Amino acid sequence: MGKIAVIGSNMVDLITYIERLPVQGETLEAPDFALGCGGKGANQAVAAAKLGSEVLMVTKVGDDLFADNTLANFRRFGIDTRHVTRAPGRSSGVAPIFVQPDSHNSILIVKGANAALGPADIQAAEADLRDCALIVLQLEIALETVYAAIDCGQRLGIPVLLNPAPAVADLSAAHLARLDYFVPNETELALVSGLPVQDRESAFAAARVLAGRGIRHVVVTLGAQGALYVGEEGEFSLPGQTVAAIDTTGAGDAFIGCFAHGRVQGLGLRDAMQRAVAYSALSVTGRGTQTSYPEAAVFEDYLASLDL
Ligand code: RIB
Repeated sequence: MGKIAVIGSNMVDLITYIERLPVQGETLEAPDFALGCGGKGANQAVAAAKLGSEVLMVTKVGDDLFADNTLANFRRFGIDTRHVTRAPGRSSGVAPIFVQPDSHNSILIVKGANAALGPADIQAAEADLRDCALIVLQLEIALETVYAAIDCGQRLGIPVLLNPAPAVADLSAAHLARLDYFVPNETELALVSGLPVQDRESAFAAARVLAGRGIRHVVVTLGAQGALYVGEEGEFSLPGQTVAAIDTTGAGDAFIGCFAHGRVQGLGLRDAMQRAVAYSALSVTGRGTQTSYPEAAVFEDYLASLDL
């Protein structure tokens, strides 16, 4: 089974469960709080590792008390941390997250040490990246580092997946065209394509534009509505699973970790997407990000209960 390289962020999630967001000048009591390990890169790495993938993480932690905990968390899931380095004098990345009673969330991110992950770190990891079957990227690190990772993937002949989160409008067209997988949600798809995305049809139209720019596989996550695909293998959409959602934070990362795991295991695109839709649905039934990602056995039981 191929190894997955995740090159991206790690954050300390400061998750506050709220009744509503406070207005300016207001102090408001919130019912609950949890501290968790998060960051889109780390979440995707942990999801894939929980499902049984071998994962190499390339990221930067800060010069603070959070760093050791983040490293220990990666190791707990068997993730290769040889390229998790410290950024002297910088804080670790942190993400204050507000989860509403309807399960939806608002997230602030402070990149901290993640902003210091540079092209030199990709170069330092290159010999170990050679052993990987897929490189997974997001946008919580510097863009020049993302581009260096795409270039590195191309040089080594390793497929590259970009999850354009948080969304950035002016991504380099030359780098987009080199991607094997582009996995946005509806908001990110609209921003990158420049087209409005309000429903499945408009999402297909926007995804076609990106596929037309050279991306091999455009996979759009649609939250509770499932996912859709446009690319070399044609076009199709998959319905979502109905679940009792508690906390949707990190559901997109669960999708990507599971999708990456499926692909390096040799699953076809549709099967890998189908499983990723189910995995992310199951993740929203638990609190937090990584804490809500099911282990392989629990996930297999859930899959067996579905009529897929
Ligand atoms: O996608 C969810 C993640 O976004 C959180 O874990 C938070 O850290 C932010 O990076």
